[in-house]
Amino acid sequence: MPQNRQWVLAARPVGRVTEECFAWRESAPPVPAAGEALVRTLYLSLDPAMRGWLEDRPSYLPPVQIGEVMRGGAVAQVVESHAPELAPGDLVRGTFGWQDYAIARPGRSLGLQKLPTGVDPELALGVLGLTGLSGYFGMLDIGRPQPGETVVVSGAAGATGSIAAQIARIQGAHVIGIAGGTEKCDWLVHHARLDAAIDYKRGPVDAALRELCPRGIDVYFDNVGGPILEAVLGQLAERARIVLCGGISSYNATEPPPGPRNLMNLVLKRARMEGFLVMDHAARFAEATAQISAWLDAGELAHEVDIQEGLENAPKALLRLFEGRNTGKQLLRVARVQTSV
Ligand SMILES: NC(=O)c1ccc[n+]([C@@H]2O[C@H](COP(=O)([O-])OP(=O)(O)OC[C@H]3O[C@@H](n4cnc5c(N)ncnc54)[C@H](OP(=O)(O)O)[C@@H]3O)[C@@H](O)[C@H]2O)c1
Repeated sequence: MPQNRQWVLAARPVGRVTEECFAWRESAPPVPAAGEALVRTLYLSLDPAMRGWLEDRPSYLPPVQIGEVMRGGAVAQVVESHAPELAPGDLVRGTFGWQDYAIARPGRSLGLQKLPTGVDPELALGVLGLTGLSGYFGMLDIGRPQPGETVVVSGAAGATGSIAAQIARIQGAHVIGIAGGTEKCDWLVHHARLDAAIDYKRGPVDAALRELCPRGIDVYFDNVGGPILEAVLGQLAERARIVLCGGISSYNATEPPPGPRNLMNLVLKRARMEGFLVMDHAARFAEATAQISAWLDAGELAHEVDIQEGLENAPKALLRLFEGRNTGKQLLRVARVQTSV
């Protein structure tokens, strides 16, 4: 059995997360006990939320400790099993971390799930994974777009935003995506088939919103926070719904970011702003996965996967999210599926 290569947290970031926050380790792979399986990582999911897990403060998950393997969602393949639920060769999704080998404990490991036969691991971490599901529940349960309403999505070319925006389009809404760069904006209009896209790196977002949303914004799906949130708050329609999914513009901030200066607009427009965590909807993941799969089969959902190669590149792949270099769901391929294990 080869060594287990790992990335552990070496130092907490101050401001921007850097490669130096992580250290490379090699050790013997873990040995599964009764009721456990040894799994080998195939793909890692890179997520903006990882930046928050590096902070030493209470959150929805405990902080990753110094010296601990970096937490991360993954698709892995069972190598050896002492658990009746899993057999060698099975593909599983779970929180296996930035390492080659991990232990899966059916019924006890965070988010562990055996993938149905034939499911593409890249889809399982992307459009059918937590980012796709976040777009689904955030848009449909909280945003609730109605036909003809105006919906704005930030981070719209990313893994979560692209699905949220297209679900609003499928509901019959008029959808405007906000993203960084001409290429991403072109993708939003020509592949995701949104009504318009705003390149926030190119000019003032509030002027573009005024032009594209003359009747105001009914639903805003926010992935970024900061000045873009403030610009949207300035142009709400009555009874608007703001879905707070994330706020990546401030994840690397050293000081708490200033709040939007125009929150009073929520009062004036009788609007509602609500945050959510996708894991709270776990009981309905099967329903959402079936619906997203049906939209994929019908050609209704465009999605992109950005695959970087090699466990050694995990910190670099994480940084791509904060630099806007990822096109769609950011994954890292660690190993290829074995047909005989
Ligand atoms: N609530 C939940 O349960 C939940 C679940 C999953 C994800 N999320 C949140 O959803 C958001 C998107 O996550 P994702 O995994 O789908 O990532 P993603 O959108 O695929 O990638 C991150 C994107 O953020 C944009 N970005 C980076 N810095 C920015 C800045 N300063 N201002 C504006 N945009 C910036 C970049 O796109 P541009 O090139 O367009 O700048 C980058 O490509 C994050 O805020 C994440 O925390 C929440």
